[in-house]
Amino acid sequence: MTAPFPNDPFLQGYFAPMGMECDAPDLVVEGEIPSDLAGTYYRNGPDPLHPPREGDAYHWFDGDGMIQAFHIEDGHVSWRNRWVRSEKYKVEREAGQSLFGVFNNPMTGDASVADVEYNTANTHIVHHHGKLLALMEGALPTEIEHRTLETKGTVSFGGQIDGPVTAHPKFDPVTGDMVFFGYSAKGPGSSALRYSVCDKAGNLTKNLFLEAPFPSMVHDFFVTQTHVIFPIFPLTTSIERAMAGGPMLAWEPDKGTHFGVLPRDGEAEDVRWFNMEARFMFHMMNAWTDGTKLHADVTGSNATQFAPQLDGKLASDDDGINPTLRRWTMDLADNTNSISEELLDDMTCEFPRTNDDFMTVGYRHGWAVGTKDSGFTAFNELIHYDTETGERKTYSLGADKMGGEAVFAPRVGASDEADGYLVMLSYDAPANLSELLVFEALNIEQGPLATAKLPVRIPAGFHGTFVPSH
Ligand SMILES: [Fe+2]
Repeated sequence: MTAPFPNDPFLQGYFAPMGMECDAPDLVVEGEIPSDLAGTYYRNGPDPLHPPREGDAYHWFDGDGMIQAFHIEDGHVSWRNRWVRSEKYKVEREAGQSLFGVFNNPMTGDASVADVEYNTANTHIVHHHGKLLALMEGALPTEIEHRTLETKGTVSFGGQIDGPVTAHPKFDPVTGDMVFFGYSAKGPGSSALRYSVCDKAGNLTKNLFLEAPFPSMVHDFFVTQTHVIFPIFPLTTSIERAMAGGPMLAWEPDKGTHFGVLPRDGEAEDVRWFNMEARFMFHMMNAWTDGTKLHADVTGSNATQFAPQLDGKLASDDDGINPTLRRWTMDLADNTNSISEELLDDMTCEFPRTNDDFMTVGYRHGWAVGTKDSGFTAFNELIHYDTETGERKTYSLGADKMGGEAVFAPRVGASDEADGYLVMLSYDAPANLSELLVFEALNIEQGPLATAKLPVRIPAGFHGTFVPSH
């Protein structure tokens, strides 16, 4: 029997693991699922099988990956969830307890797993070259069977990649390429980045290393039709610092922000670095090329509390820790190598998404979840940004509800960018149950068209993808 989970905020309430695998063939639906919405919404997130080892802290990013799959067709919604059968999951399930240290810190892990792959596959799930890939940024992708959610194993691109792969690859709608990178690509704490391209047939067509100005955590990146951009924020990593008793990750704003810009077909020596003062982001909305300018719209902040500063303190609210929608621009014709910033909105928001078919080419319509409260807390507002008119529309889920990432699902036969729906999970706190909400993408303020009621609570998670049936 496993021990109770400790009283950690990321192991209780909305975040508590569900700890089971379910099949619900036909969920109760309030409202009406549109007849021209057909496909499967996959969502990934952490669901730790066991409580952390005695004395180990828990980190939300560290739980075993669990895939939630909602198949929507003919007005019906089915739901299935499965853990990813990673090597970590398998050895810990066999042992009946956690064996790895927090974030695979070898100083706290069990000696028996020193040579076992650490790969939670818990962050995102994407679809490329016919494969469904569960991703985390510290390891290889894990292939998942579309219907059964069975784990098929890790994907090494013909044995050519053995290091970390980002959870946020980009998909070029023109070529069908998957463009991706890895950080700490030559070992934990290294400043090496790996830049790779996998074509639509699954062949690795690009794979090169380049050096960042310093080792840092790089959660997302930018790809346009012409360039790939590696954003290095001063969220630094240092094994030496950790060995000396300091934090492995630290916020060092004095180091500034550096974007490595490389032509998509370039080589490592072609990288050009652009700079600005300290900024941070987890996620980008979209990026594109406009003449000599490269633009990236992001949910960015001036500082982060994700890791302590070198003095051990966290950045303060006054440092600007809440992410807001902003545009970062690099002009290739400008020899100052500076990055300019335009603030597009002042509302705290995260999980920015556009129609995936508009990645790398630019967009008009974007969606995110956010809060009208001053703090960066639970997200209970769904947001639609129209970048052509500058208009922001919102729909409030209500004070007792919290929403996850909203993913665009194209209408069957859609030809326009925003011709479709949004799907998102919402947590009803008083009922302690989850719901799958379906919105018309351009009319979110009217509320959901349909609400599929889950018989249980699905924990807060990270990212997902809608894979159309047609
Ligand atoms: Fe992410």
